[in-house]
Amino acid sequence: SEYDLVIRGGTVVTASDTLRADVGIRDGRIIAVAEKLDDADRIIDATGLLVMPGGIDSHVHLAQPAFGGPAMADGFESGTRSAIAGGNTTVIPFALQPRGASLRTSVVDYHKEADGKSYCDYGFHLIISDPSPSVLGQELPALVDDGYSSFKVFMTYDDLVLNDRQLLEVFDCARGCGALVMVHCEGYDAIRFMAERLEAAGKTAPYYHAVSRPQSVEREATHRAISHAELTDVPIMVVHVSGREPMEQIRWAQQKGLKIYAETCPQYVALTADDLKGLNMDESGGKYVCSPPPRDHASWDAIWEGIRTGVFQTFSSDHCPFFYEGEMGKLNPKARTSFRWVPNGIPGVETRLQILYQKGVVEGRITVNEFVALTSTNHAKIYGLYPKKGSIAPGFDADIVLWDPNRKETIRQELMHHGADYTPYEGLEVTGWPVMTVLRGKVVMQDGEILGEPGDGGFLKRSLSPYAVPNGAPAL
Ligand code: URP
Ligand code: ZN
Ligand code: ZN
Ligand code: ZN
Repeated sequence: SEYDLVIRGGTVVTASDTLRADVGIRDGRIIAVAEKLDDADRIIDATGLLVMPGGIDSHVHLAQPAFGGPAMADGFESGTRSAIAGGNTTVIPFALQPRGASLRTSVVDYHKEADGKSYCDYGFHLIISDPSPSVLGQELPALVDDGYSSFKVFMTYDDLVLNDRQLLEVFDCARGCGALVMVHCEGYDAIRFMAERLEAAGKTAPYYHAVSRPQSVEREATHRAISHAELTDVPIMVVHVSGREPMEQIRWAQQKGLKIYAETCPQYVALTADDLKGLNMDESGGKYVCSPPPRDHASWDAIWEGIRTGVFQTFSSDHCPFFYEGEMGKLNPKARTSFRWVPNGIPGVETRLQILYQKGVVEGRITVNEFVALTSTNHAKIYGLYPKKGSIAPGFDADIVLWDPNRKETIRQELMHHGADYTPYEGLEVTGWPVMTVLRGKVVMQDGEILGEPGDGGFLKRSLSPYAVPNGAPAL
């Protein structure tokens, strides 16, 4: 036959267009998008469904080192199983350099975690915790050339925080090698100050995690990162933006003509700090501990304002799962003593699309084309995967999600495929659900059933991001 697979009768949605069309696939790639296609080995009827590019989640954490804390609830196998169940076909987790370690060795080790275990395609960002001269001078430029074209730096966390001098060195290095820097913007000293005061006052319940890092702490760090980016003339991506204060800093910088990009996440339009209160301030609030913390309803509105007006380019999950009950009891023994020891991060790779579809498309805040841009196309463009991933057109990988726009579902743990023992979105009612995921022409998920295998997914060497090109000030 001419096609291995034809997806027939659906509504194809891309970041720019909505059209009634069939999609013809051969050898894992899309070779035709046309009104009517025949001559296929297999035909899938997509009548009544949206045919969209598979989700690309450019911010997930899988199998990261624990630094003495509890282990993550997802490695590559369960994490990417959860990803495809949620309509994703590519994830970009982080290869983390522990302090003192070689970056290259960290990357080699991380490949061992992923090899043969992934249900979807994957690239690696790098996390730079130790920007030594050899890392910045040799290792990083070589890795960028090898397809690890983006990295993340942190302005907080004991094991990861960089000081301002180090941030500037890393930004300057990124400029030299054309890499895109993602920045976790929260101020380390302010958080330490607040956390120690709260603890001294006996305020140790999970809720005080949110109190210890208010929006002003995120705003200050966001502004500082922007200033460093301006000084070095380096584009940056501010990740997991939680509310109005940091959003306005980013908008201000963008209006000045700086290349500042921004990401937000489901937790900033679906959770609030009150969720961290749990019942009677008990430890069940620990289910919602992530950084930056979820804020309030006014912050949800600010995030939507930023989404609608183009401040945000990507909507990612920041999937970073830990067990709540687990073998060691609720959270873990140490976490029960203070919010400071609750591991930061929540699961969400499987529910990202549904939450954005419900709160964005169904509730009338964004178009379905904007939905595709925010969940797939922009991730591909910004992180060097375009035009291989991120759209439905001849030449692209046949990474497709079939979406039932009328299916009503209540998000609940029993539907999830992740390793964690809860979903923070338990009980959230949504309309719109992924009913089939196709990875390079192979049906890997159908009606919640996993049909793919670990190892279906492969490593993606990523090109340099066109978004990382500096404005053009002379190099320092
Ligand atoms: O709390 C979070 N978000 N944990 C994941 C690590 C990070 O900072 O993205
Ligand atoms: Zn054939
Ligand atoms: Zn972060
Ligand atoms: Zn993260």
